[in-house]
Amino acid sequence: MEKDAILVLDFGGQYCHLIARRVRENGVYSEIAPSSITVGELSTLRKKSNIKGIILSGGPSSIYDHESPQMDKKILDLDIPILGICYGHQLLASYLDGEVKRSKNNEYGTAFVYVSDSSGILKGLGEKEQVWMSHGDSVLSAPKGFEVLASTDNCPIAAFSSDAKRIYGVQWHPEVVHTLKGNLILQNFIYGICKCKSSWDPSNLVDTYIGNIRKEAGKSRVILALSGGIDSTTAAVLANRAIGDRLTAVFVDSGLMRKNETEDIMRIAEKAGINMIVADAQTRFLDKLKDVEDPEEKRKIIGNEFIRVFEETAEEVKAEYLLQGTIYPDRIESGHSKHSSVIKTHHNVGGLPKDMKFKGLIEPLKDLYKDEVRKIATELKLPREIVYRQAFPGPGLAVRIVGAITDEKLRIVRDADFIVTSEFEKAGSNEGLWEYFAVLTDTKSTGVKGDARAYGNVIAIRAVESVDAMTANFAKIPYQVLEKISTRITNEIPEVVRVVYDITNKPPSTIEWE
Ligand code: XMP
Repeated sequence: MEKDAILVLDFGGQYCHLIARRVRENGVYSEIAPSSITVGELSTLRKKSNIKGIILSGGPSSIYDHESPQMDKKILDLDIPILGICYGHQLLASYLDGEVKRSKNNEYGTAFVYVSDSSGILKGLGEKEQVWMSHGDSVLSAPKGFEVLASTDNCPIAAFSSDAKRIYGVQWHPEVVHTLKGNLILQNFIYGICKCKSSWDPSNLVDTYIGNIRKEAGKSRVILALSGGIDSTTAAVLANRAIGDRLTAVFVDSGLMRKNETEDIMRIAEKAGINMIVADAQTRFLDKLKDVEDPEEKRKIIGNEFIRVFEETAEEVKAEYLLQGTIYPDRIESGHSKHSSVIKTHHNVGGLPKDMKFKGLIEPLKDLYKDEVRKIATELKLPREIVYRQAFPGPGLAVRIVGAITDEKLRIVRDADFIVTSEFEKAGSNEGLWEYFAVLTDTKSTGVKGDARAYGNVIAIRAVESVDAMTANFAKIPYQVLEKISTRITNEIPEVVRVVYDITNKPPSTIEWE
């Protein structure tokens, strides 16, 4: 029998993949399907995995919007348990003759729910629980025959259920860590209601992935975009095992790298036994980026240029396929679903030119989350230094310089970043952080250096804690460490007169400034 699975229907919510990830973390495989999936398509999927439950994600639409995403209502009659979250909760209410009130006043952030019935889906919850809300419309009356399980001050029907129909709705987001007992709700659904068996463990997938790469590549040669980060390095090691010397790993030196990065990556590749070529493309990247201010434009240019460099190297090594370390979150934030809003295009996805000369693209990790890639990397016995290397955006320092890029700005942000990184590491403040770096803002400010007035640049320090980069909290760094960094940056980089610390969480901010 195929493994048990929970299917998440994507109504365009930013947290859609987070739901799938949480389900997987609980040991059950989860896939995402577009909200438009039909009963027929669902039965095809059911041949591949034993879908024991369906979760309807949240989404940015109102059910009253002209083209709001709908679903095939026949899915409600399949006798597969369904859990609607946020928009999914409202959609269920509207389909099952409940009432949804249109509202322009959004409820956003932490809230408290009053639980009136803590059985079934809310088993184990107390009378008052902290949850994370992000919605405009609210359910005013539950569908007929459904029980109301919880309410908030603004939302009379915050959760409902029908044990007979095995349909459940919650207005809040159980998948987000700010919902303190969110995981318990998901476990109630996965195990208590859907009766799934735990069978998902990515570390068992190494052989499958190696087999997939071998199959996709056929007898062709493959070129790999190696950045030295966990994703591409893991993809490289898998590909190395799959096709051996038919793989060429290329590190593109775009001139947008951090201090000593090329040398570090060469060392890492050597340690991992990967055969790597360095393509020196600094001048062509910087020429193309000259005077470009728009972040999305920068990403597109960098993405295109990357591919061009690969194509040229590929021609030299006669590679027909391009292999990339793209992972799930890269895809969602590029608005892969029709109904999600594009936050920013990741260069390795949105920037792919239409006229790509490769026979195909191989993305072995495209369905995995970062923590799952780490499990695979650990299974592959990659050194700790790679497994826990901090994330770095594909477009590199280009998205850490606000506005147009120049050689001088690159030097400033690179030196500042080096100071930030070394001081964090020296103080041990980097432990458990997702990323810590410097950003060169486009603000100028007045200062005093020596006894003279100085007018110069402002550097921002960004350091965040995160599990998956979907949400993040700014790191609470000791003032002494920040002070040391600020002193060093203003002393050692003459162009900088002011250093600020970014105290914004994601959301509402993103991790990178651009
Ligand atoms: P944001 O800024 O969207 O970042 O909160 C989430 C994570 O993704 C990284 N990031 C990128 N990675 N190409 C990438 O490969 C990109 O264009 C890109 N933009 C952001 C960011 O560093 C963080 O880890």
